[in-house]
Amino acid sequence: MILVTGATGLVGAHLLYHLVKNDEKVRAIYRSEIKIEAVKKVFAYYTEDTSLIEKVEWFKADITEVPAMIPAFIGVKTLYHCAAFISFSPKDYREMRKVNIHGTAILVNLAIDAKVNKMCYVGSIASVGDSLNGALITEENEWNKEADNSGYSITKFGGEMEVWRASQEGVAVVIVNPGVILGSGFWQTGSGKLFTQVYNGFRYYTEGITGFVGVKDVVKAMILLTNSNIKNERFILVAANKTYKDVLFAIADAFRKKRPSTKIKSWQTAILWRFSAFASKITGVQPLLSKYSARSAHSVSKYSSEKIEKAIDFQFEEIENTIAETCENYQ
Ligand SMILES: NC(=O)c1ccc[n+]([C@@H]2O[C@H](COP(=O)([O-])OP(=O)(O)OC[C@H]3O[C@@H](n4cnc5c(N)ncnc54)[C@H](OP(=O)(O)O)[C@@H]3O)[C@@H](O)[C@H]2O)c1
Repeated sequence: MILVTGATGLVGAHLLYHLVKNDEKVRAIYRSEIKIEAVKKVFAYYTEDTSLIEKVEWFKADITEVPAMIPAFIGVKTLYHCAAFISFSPKDYREMRKVNIHGTAILVNLAIDAKVNKMCYVGSIASVGDSLNGALITEENEWNKEADNSGYSITKFGGEMEVWRASQEGVAVVIVNPGVILGSGFWQTGSGKLFTQVYNGFRYYTEGITGFVGVKDVVKAMILLTNSNIKNERFILVAANKTYKDVLFAIADAFRKKRPSTKIKSWQTAILWRFSAFASKITGVQPLLSKYSARSAHSVSKYSSEKIEKAIDFQFEEIENTIAETCENYQ
């Protein structure tokens, strides 16, 4: 039996499809029925066969609740841990610690008890250290705890530490560290929002650089690594290092919409996040922009995926093809 956490999110939903398509027995954690409808939509991007999703054994639980999670591990030999709370708002820091670190620790303890053979954890490039000299960032780059890290980055690093603990306690682990994941479904959250915003005529762009990868490549790599003999290794998953400008322009082109036309400079975002934080304190509404999302919009970080390319002869889909396909599904 395979257990998937975060099954109702972007990565988890695409992963579920590929697992059940391969006739695997899958138990999937969910918290609300409405999110299962979103997963059905993801399946519909791949197939008209509506019976496929019926093969999933749905299990209602919150990963931070031990009693609820214990029965989820009965008969489980493989664990894919995709659940996380993603936010750049300082207000969410406590909750992110609870889900991303404490929740992962609970899963690790239960995986050790259940003698799970292999665990695949979805980390992030947010928990890989930057390069000082502009060199490509690799898996060897150590995360710098002294840096001004975002709460998300801190908690993804903390979660990864828990997974390394599993590797010390007899569970073979593989960790993937994807860049910004692009893919279909979940158009109002995460990177899905980029597509919605550009479709609706978003006007602004920045020229920061980061790594991007398609969700299909992420789940393909996860399955290949989990089914391989590789253990206790982490792998960066980045198909291309691109400016936000290039990605937004490619999305606009694929939609045949007007490209964003106003370049935002770093001093402008610096004012905006401070203003947003101030307004949020008064109104209680989530800030439009946080210090960390403002900073990442302008920072330049380039990643190497050479390790996975060599380890399992992995070839990434061109990011332009991922964008084109995602735009087609959006419409
Ligand atoms: N999206 C990206 O660009 C990106 C980039 C790098 C790494 N990652 C990592 O990839 C993984 C998957 O991300 P994603 O984009 O699929 O995220 P997502 O779409 O936001 O989905 C998050 C999933 O986690 C579940 N979850 C959150 N808190 C939970 C809790 N307390 N108990 C049980 N389930 C909980 C959510 O359940 P509900 O549906 O009930 O909320 C949802 O299924 C995460 O670990 C993330 O850090 C994402």
